[in-house]
Amino acid sequence: MDYKGYFTSALDRLRDERRYRVFADLERVAGRFPHAIWHSLQGPSDVVIWCSNDYLGMAQHPKVIGAMVEAAARLGTGAGGTRNIAGTNHPLVELERELADLHNKPAGLVFTSGYVSNETGISTIAKLLPNCLLLSDALNHNSMIEGVRQSGCEKKIWRHNDLGHLEELLTTADPARPKLIVFESLYSMDGDIAPVHAICDLAERYSAMTYCDEVHAVGMYGPHGGGICERDNAMHRVDVIEGTLAKAFGCLGGYITASAELVDAVRSYAPGFIFTTALPPAICAAATAAIRHLKTSGWERERHQERAARVKAVLNNAGLPVMPSVTHIVPVLVGDPEKCKAASRPAAFRARHLHSTDQLSDGAASHGTTANHAISLSRRCAGRRPG
Ligand SMILES: Cc1ncc(COP(=O)(O)O)c(C=O)c1O
Repeated sequence: MDYKGYFTSALDRLRDERRYRVFADLERVAGRFPHAIWHSLQGPSDVVIWCSNDYLGMAQHPKVIGAMVEAAARLGTGAGGTRNIAGTNHPLVELERELADLHNKPAGLVFTSGYVSNETGISTIAKLLPNCLLLSDALNHNSMIEGVRQSGCEKKIWRHNDLGHLEELLTTADPARPKLIVFESLYSMDGDIAPVHAICDLAERYSAMTYCDEVHAVGMYGPHGGGICERDNAMHRVDVIEGTLAKAFGCLGGYITASAELVDAVRSYAPGFIFTTALPPAICAAATAAIRHLKTSGWERERHQERAARVKAVLNNAGLPVMPSVTHIVPVLVGDPEKCKAASRPAAFRARHLHSTDQLSDGAASHGTTANHAISLSRRCAGRRPG
């Protein structure tokens, strides 16, 4: 049997579809954001990174680096195992308290990534609700779609941000049936925002629970960086707020915040939480430092918004197809995978001042709607990558 051949033909398919990806080999230089060294076939050279989810540069912030180094020196590198086996490192307890406080919720639970928090969080919550009906926004991220799928519960997809359609689906559902509405506060491909209050109004009217992914908004919006729900004074209305530590907070990991009972149940039932090693203490300490800093400092958020607005203006003036976006996301719709790749290639690899990417909108691809080939630029006082 030619096992290798299967992989080769899978890769050939990607190449044929012009979807095969090559990653830039980069070395970010702490203290010189957005500068990095690009290790190309021609040797190392200086580049400026425009696409990064380290929106606010917190991955290079002295307080964050300091917290990580101090914790690693004091507590070592690894967590030592799953929390069931090895207990919980104290910095992780502190981090969960900090996150609960950020979203003004009774409890928080940390996972190894935002992806895992959605995948295992949504599936576990839905499984714990008898005969749960999941209502998922059509443009939800792949991690949410996987959470919905893995729950094994019936799902209905509502057209993106279409409250009329959501209500239509809620109306036809059995009023006695538990329902979970899952959506993002800020959609990272188009840069638009969910009508959080209106979704919560419907949830209240039809006795549904709400689960909101704030991955691209935490640290970035709200007076303390609590996200769009904080900015819109809606945190108390959303049952579960999910976020990442890997984007504006510059570290790694994901989390949910919710009632103490829900968090305790997920802690006790979620396979993606139970059967994997906890985050290392140094990462937890660094994330806590980033969250604490952004709770009191709004400078980074303001500056980032200014920069994103400037990038939009410059691209618009240059006649590029910038999609309207009310957030820091700067989507440039190319509409064709090949042209999209061509547009990003000279930028990243020839002009050497722009690293952008093309990608299928995860939600669109998985829910079978039109794929969206767009370059999303924006960024930490300079850059971010979609995804
Ligand atoms: C909307 C959304 N949710 C979740 C994730 C996953 O978060 P993480 O990168 O922390 O795994 C991403 C992308 O990375 C995302 O864009």
